[in-house]
Amino acid sequence: MGSTIIGCGKCLPALEVENDELKALVDTNDEWISTRTGIKSRRVAVDETNSDLAEVAARQALGWIDGGHAERRLDPGEIDLVICATITPDVVSPSEAGLLRRRLGLSNAIAFDLNAACSGFVYGLAMAESMMAAAAPSVAGAAGRNPVRRALVVGAERLTRLTDWSDRNTCVLFGDGAGAAVLEWSEERPGILSSFITNEDDEANALTCAAAYEAPQPFDAHGISLDAAAAGDPGLAHVDEELAIGEAVADGKPRQVLRMNGPKVFKFASEAMTAAIRAALDRANLSLDDVACIVPHQANERIIKYAAKKLGCPLDLFQLSIAHTGNSSAASVPMALADAYESGRIQRGDKVVLVAFGGGFTSGAVVYEA
Ligand code: ACO
Repeated sequence: MGSTIIGCGKCLPALEVENDELKALVDTNDEWISTRTGIKSRRVAVDETNSDLAEVAARQALGWIDGGHAERRLDPGEIDLVICATITPDVVSPSEAGLLRRRLGLSNAIAFDLNAACSGFVYGLAMAESMMAAAAPSVAGAAGRNPVRRALVVGAERLTRLTDWSDRNTCVLFGDGAGAAVLEWSEERPGILSSFITNEDDEANALTCAAAYEAPQPFDAHGISLDAAAAGDPGLAHVDEELAIGEAVADGKPRQVLRMNGPKVFKFASEAMTAAIRAALDRANLSLDDVACIVPHQANERIIKYAAKKLGCPLDLFQLSIAHTGNSSAASVPMALADAYESGRIQRGDKVVLVAFGGGFTSGAVVYEA
């Protein structure tokens, strides 16, 4: 028994931007971007909101039960939980998951967002699985918990809204999109066999972005101050300093853009990805020989190649979807998973590893039987 992925879907925004088009913004070229990252183009949400993308991906996942072969469709009332992993919600409140709950008519669902950057979808699956397992009929104390038999886990991002389009080190990397999966508790199928999620400090401030607090605060250290209100958002000076965001402000750039030390993230990511795959497989008592497909976070093809080499497995064990999406943060794993199902490379009974790393630093992997 366990929670099984029974549906999967994805949505990309309409506008596709090729590498060479970015020459209009920064000093770059297709050759540099494609050889360093594997990215050829990315999608940019212009008219679509984050919740538009998430809604399409979620509807696809709800209607795609067991690859579309199952006769049943899920009724919206059958979903008990919605987790939306995102760092770019449309609004702070209601949550992105709350917006989805309303749009899809998921009237029985608990809904909340989760921020674990690019690892968000993997964290979301691990959390949904834990909630489902804790409420399983055979578990002591289950009656006292929220029953969760079916969960919708979504990763949705409009990362291009946090992108500094004058910084060639970052702007060539990111894209928008959404992916979704439906999990169902089953007494027969094993489903998720193990999960491993972990954090370490980003001591190098390798990946940062300030929050958007724009309301003027009519106070200074002595109390109410109309001067402070007139000055607008003072930012969070000590946090800005701690995260070196002050440097961006000094450069005249907005505080709320992604700043990344690529080589430091690359080093963390390569180590974290192999460690997470190994740890999750160990917990499931499996080896790489048992695995039919690894679906990794699509940040950089070179990171995936490095992981394949370090693990001693062929690159074609990994689902590669980065070429026409770029790095779409929390959306990247579920979108790549949808690609893997669509191409038929995941079959019922296969062992699959989902693995991600991201800002925070966060990383993790989930192993499941399809
Ligand atoms: N076009 C042309 N040249 C460029 C570009 C560009 N777009 N960007 C950088 N360069 C130049 C640099 O200025 C540098 O030039 P210099 O040697 O004259 O100074 C040169 O190319 C090499 O730069 P590096 O940073 O050393 O290039 P590297 O091989 O490390 O690749 C990259 C950079 C692609 C960013 C890589 O480090 C990487 O993929 N890092 C990981 C990113 C990642 O995984 N992020 C995931 C988390 S994102 C999130 O959580 C939201």
